[in-house]
Amino acid sequence: MMSFGIPIFVGWLAVATQSVRATYLPERSETGDKSFVPFQEFLKQVKSASYSQYMDANVSSQADFTDMQKHISRMYDGVTATKVTSFLLGNEYGDCIYIKEQPSFRHLKLSGISDPPSNLTLFPKSKGSISGNSSYADSPLKLGLKDPFGNPISCPSSTIPMARLTLEKLTRFKTLSDFFAKAPRGVEKPQEVKGPDFKPDWEPTHLHAYAEQNVANFGGNSWLDLWNPKGDFSLSQQWYVGGSGCDTQTVEGGWLVYPDGPHDDATLFIYWTKHYYNIGSCDTKKNVGCYNLDCDGFVQINHNWFLGGPWDHYSTTDGQQWGFEMQWKLYAGNWWLFLKGPGSYEAVGYYPTSIYDGGQMSKQAELIQYGGEVTRKVGDVWPQMGSGDFAEKGWQRAAYQNTIFWIPRDENGGYGEWARLASHDEGLPSCFTIDLVNYPNGGDWGTYFYFGGPGGNTCN
Ligand SMILES: *[C@@H]1O[C@H](CO)[C@@H](O)[C@H](O)[C@H]1NC(C)=O
Ligand SMILES: *[C@@H]1O[C@H](CO)[C@@H](O)[C@H](O)[C@H]1NC(C)=O
Ligand SMILES: *[C@@H]1O[C@H](CO)[C@@H](O)[C@H](O)[C@H]1NC(C)=O
Repeated sequence: MMSFGIPIFVGWLAVATQSVRATYLPERSETGDKSFVPFQEFLKQVKSASYSQYMDANVSSQADFTDMQKHISRMYDGVTATKVTSFLLGNEYGDCIYIKEQPSFRHLKLSGISDPPSNLTLFPKSKGSISGNSSYADSPLKLGLKDPFGNPISCPSSTIPMARLTLEKLTRFKTLSDFFAKAPRGVEKPQEVKGPDFKPDWEPTHLHAYAEQNVANFGGNSWLDLWNPKGDFSLSQQWYVGGSGCDTQTVEGGWLVYPDGPHDDATLFIYWTKHYYNIGSCDTKKNVGCYNLDCDGFVQINHNWFLGGPWDHYSTTDGQQWGFEMQWKLYAGNWWLFLKGPGSYEAVGYYPTSIYDGGQMSKQAELIQYGGEVTRKVGDVWPQMGSGDFAEKGWQRAAYQNTIFWIPRDENGGYGEWARLASHDEGLPSCFTIDLVNYPNGGDWGTYFYFGGPGGNTCN
């Protein structure tokens, strides 16, 4: 009846999710007769797809379906399809696309690929690693893995891995702007308007347990303990924010569980908005922000890190703690993303400040924030946040971020300033908590906090 581009491997995904260390390396036989969809075949399927094939999906109308189809075609319109190699990681296809053929580079009409600063910003104390007893989770693309079809889960160095934009992914949402949104803000229309076919919509509310500081900054840094909580939408992230009202602009990143995304496991994500998430009266219907490489914005230069892809390690209760370090650094007109696994920090790519149209984030940020965020579909319980355990459970129980500092100058290299944060909990303490320790009381962890909780039916 419906013919989706992606085969869904329910069996081995379930196995992978349950194991302590998800391997994403099922036996070949477990894939049954599902076939791998090569990039060129995928493009053909998008072109020939019709709305009638997606009547059971959530896309609102023929016009919205056409929007989605056009968006996908436009994103890939300058890609030399015959040169693309692909792999499947979890339920996410990765297509290895030449750096200069990626959508942001083509559509933003950049004159060239920028060079990252040779040095990122160091933490304020001269020390070795301060990740505590935790282990750095590496990008799965660096582990020499193969997918169930024998494709190497990696990309050649002249390319970048781009999470495939499929119609199946987009039509889980009513509109293209819902797909771009942090999570759709629902329930704005009265029930009568929604009609008998109304499907569960999203809460207008997002709840955060977070810590913040108002300070003029050029980015910042933290180490993120990596968990895999259950629920509709749950994340741990950094925000660098400028402007106010509808002119609020952000650079964001961290890990995210968002099954409608459709990511069953926590994935690496980045996000940006130049128009306060297109919420309410700020809704311009324009493409003004999105996740990862889903729209024009982020220019990736690194072939090792897979935005939108899952990890192969997650922290466990009373067990090993896994995580990664993230730094955003505004340098010479670009918001650079650096990520660190067990090796050195790597420059992953950048948001050119031109995407902010002269707004505050094209100059610098004014606010730093770190913490957890959840939302839910109407009728569902509030998701787990962090590990699902309360902040006061501490080490090996609650999720945390540490090594939190901000960047005082637009410069190559330099030193950060320890964050002096104030914490806020928007949820009821029966659902989520946060325990903040500012430098110098944080010892080797610098400024840090534990956060999270089990969620529940009533959280605000
Ligand atoms: C790290 O591990 C050592 C040895 O197992 C332990 O003594 C120490 O308390 C741990 N540190 C933290 C922050 O848990
Ligand atoms: C439609 O939306 C619902 C609620 O968000 C979701 O659970 C479901 O998976 C979606 N259906 C499809 C076919 O994507
Ligand atoms: C970059 O780091 C190297 C090695 O630590 C150092 O020698 C060099 O001076 C740094 N450059 C800048 C511009 O900070």
